[in-house]
Amino acid sequence: MSRDIIIDTDPGQDDAVAILLALASPELNVLGITCVAGNVPLARTSHNALQVCELAGRPDMRVFAGCAQPMGRGLVTAEHVHGATGLDGATLPEPQMQIQSEHAVDFIIKSMRQAPIKSITLCPLGPLTNIGTALLKAPDIADRIAQIVLMGGAYFEVGNITPAAEFNIFVDPEAADIVFKSGIDLVVAPLDVTHKALTSKAWITDLRAKNNNVCDAVAGWTDFFERFDSEKYGTHGAPLHDPCVVAYLIAPNLFTGRHINVQIEIQSELTRGMTVADWWRVTDRPANALFLGDIDATGYFNLITERVAQL
Ligand code: RIB
Ligand code: CA
Repeated sequence: MSRDIIIDTDPGQDDAVAILLALASPELNVLGITCVAGNVPLARTSHNALQVCELAGRPDMRVFAGCAQPMGRGLVTAEHVHGATGLDGATLPEPQMQIQSEHAVDFIIKSMRQAPIKSITLCPLGPLTNIGTALLKAPDIADRIAQIVLMGGAYFEVGNITPAAEFNIFVDPEAADIVFKSGIDLVVAPLDVTHKALTSKAWITDLRAKNNNVCDAVAGWTDFFERFDSEKYGTHGAPLHDPCVVAYLIAPNLFTGRHINVQIEIQSELTRGMTVADWWRVTDRPANALFLGDIDATGYFNLITERVAQL
């Protein structure tokens, strides 16, 4: 029995790998892909999602455009990391499939209302604007969502877009605040765990040896965005953030974490978007999230290679 999921995303090379991993995994049934502004503006993230679905041989996949701006602030993008297209590093054909006419937020709300209660898992890989907007527009769906497994936040790793905040949460802290206060079963893959999932030249070489279009694209994307993180952190390899969400759904045993309280800073401009994670439980704030802290990186990259090579 496969698990019904909706992927909410801002492709982004790492988002693209996460989508490919999901589409290659029989454990998951992707009901739709909802796009949000983040790494690059919405028009590009939507276009990129179409390209990734066609690369995966899934022109039937329903792709929806969502919110073009965060709930309460101007959009901040990350072309400096992902390139102007958001998918720099591999050249893919222009997509033939079309974006659905329904707004992503309405698709999320309708799906949650029509599906059996707690049968769909939401997998946000970018700013939480679509999710926060859906919860604000239709508070009744909070009790109908099975789980939200998201990439975002940081505690020990602190920030990557400011000294205090991780990009996805920083871009739309108000939306994140709604999600983290929703009472929905949350699993969070923060930088603390994604920074332990570093790509390597050996992994990229192995991908290229598969002589497969999908693996070539993953290798090209990884090569491209690795340059930024390697230079910034002085590491060999870059954190492959978003596939951690999908890998957790397929093989949760690859991860460890703690059920703790996590709150979002939305007042201070200095620390806006900081995930204030009570990792050491120094307060009596109730736990609201499984905050992942460690990963079996070898198992993670083996899983990605094994699955995407089959597409
Ligand atoms: O901070 C990393 C996150 O921001 C990833 O989801 C990446 O794709 C960007 O959206
Ligand atoms: Ca992303």
